[in-house]
Amino acid sequence: MSTNIVWHDSQITKKDRTKLTAQKPCILWFTGLSGSGKSTIANALEEVLHNNKNFTYLLDGDNVRHGLNSNLGFNDASRVENIRRVGEVAKLFVESGQIVLTAFISPFREDRELVKNLVEKDEFIEVFIDTPLEVCEIRDPKGLYKKARAGEIKDFTGIDSPYEQPDKADIHIMNDEITIEKACEQIIDFLIDNNYITWRDN
Ligand code: ADX
Repeated sequence: MSTNIVWHDSQITKKDRTKLTAQKPCILWFTGLSGSGKSTIANALEEVLHNNKNFTYLLDGDNVRHGLNSNLGFNDASRVENIRRVGEVAKLFVESGQIVLTAFISPFREDRELVKNLVEKDEFIEVFIDTPLEVCEIRDPKGLYKKARAGEIKDFTGIDSPYEQPDKADIHIMNDEITIEKACEQIIDFLIDNNYITWRDN
């Protein structure tokens, strides 16, 4: 824990920043197995939101692991730290007034809970991309399941490292049954119904 540091309040608050936008800032926390479609759906959704003139930012596991978290691997402790850092960064984006989309496996329930508790109650929206392991393994977009099965990668989620499903995600997407467009629609409907965004008919 850092010592001798004092929190400095900003003159401009989240409320002030939010007044400039027609949106309620929040974290759309995508969780699911590797290859479940988190990044694909989050990317497509960001485009829809952007076209609706919402201010967004997407934090993606593979990308963040190239920079901020490049010193982290995939054992349990590294995954915990990965999610802790991403949670803190996502919180800053919420403070800035944005809708932040995060696409991380985030396999542990406790870590997702920790992020949820970093922000206000309605600022964390858990989006479970529910794609069966067998389907992810058939898709295997990066060829990683094949390597994990061959023992070339260890601690691979779903193979020799656990994935704890959300008990009650805010948005539950069965991604072996629907299209990317339908998945986006499901999330957009939630955001409209719960007053995070207003829909502009462009
Ligand atoms: S998390 O578990 O710490 O949340 P994160 O989402 O950042 O994982 O990174 C997952 C991505 O890293 C996967 O989509 C995959 O491309 C890659 N990866 C490499 N090694 C592993 C591994 N052992 N387990 C899971 N994903 C891995």
